[in-house]
Amino acid sequence: MRREATSSVPTELKPGDTEFEMGVPIPGVILEQSQWAQTALKKLPEEGLLNLETLFGRIAPTVLEVGCGNGRFTLSSALRRPECNHIAIDILPAVVRYATRRANQRGLSNVRVAVCDGWRFLSNYLAVGSIDEIHIYHPQPYADPRDAGKRMMTPDFIALMHSRLIEGGKVYLQTDREVYWNYMRQVMLPLFDWEELTEPWAEDPHGRSRREMLSVGQELTIFRSVATRKSGLEAEEIQRLTESSPLPQFQVERKKMPYRRKRR
Ligand SMILES: C[S@@+](CC[C@H](N)C(=O)[O-])C[C@H]1O[C@@H](n2cnc3c(N)ncnc32)[C@H](O)[C@@H]1O
Repeated sequence: MRREATSSVPTELKPGDTEFEMGVPIPGVILEQSQWAQTALKKLPEEGLLNLETLFGRIAPTVLEVGCGNGRFTLSSALRRPECNHIAIDILPAVVRYATRRANQRGLSNVRVAVCDGWRFLSNYLAVGSIDEIHIYHPQPYADPRDAGKRMMTPDFIALMHSRLIEGGKVYLQTDREVYWNYMRQVMLPLFDWEELTEPWAEDPHGRSRREMLSVGQELTIFRSVATRKSGLEAEEIQRLTESSPLPQFQVERKKMPYRRKRR
């Protein structure tokens, strides 16, 4: 029987339960423990690339989510596309614990979750031309000007994504900060074809991520795009375009989140 969980604490859920977050189901159903998967990627190589075939036990298209938070998008995508490998990373161990537990409890053997910085993961562990899709939902805007240097979407990071994607690979981007959005469009355009979406994602109409759901609750405008890697660019041209792009030195307005909860 499919029961609705009254709590969002993963440990209190029972087989057959649906887990909810802000009244919206988290994709998938909790399985019997014997069917759980082991999705934590605890040990990254000391040096050298990750071997994706060894990691997943197969060769398959690979979807990467950077800054995955509590994992809602990766869960949804991995359930919908069992034929794809999924890697979800975030720098915050607390949110990675939630994402890992949720993927485990849903038996998602096509998912691996790791605590890692986005730049480090792409540059150290992924081979050139190895990733089919990169998803980034609501990259941390960092409202304090002293933290502007921590913003992930720099020209160098965009060039790094370009190099790790396959021919025709895609970057899915979303934010509720217009100033960050305008910046991303400007610095992505030299290396990516840029398509903006005017509607929510068809597969996740209630929100693709926790932050999206919070933003919808606040009636904020959400900016979404699918960017396709441009091909035929020489390395020197990419370097020139990257060096001539501005750094993310814009001012971000502070926004108060109405219902920040401890539980993810
Ligand atoms: C605003 S939250 C959005 C989380 C989730 N994507 C969502 O939409 O609900 C930004 C996330 O990015 C993570 N993050 C920030 N900088 C990062 C980096 N350099 N590498 C990986 N993750 C990062 C944060 O820990 C946080 O979980």
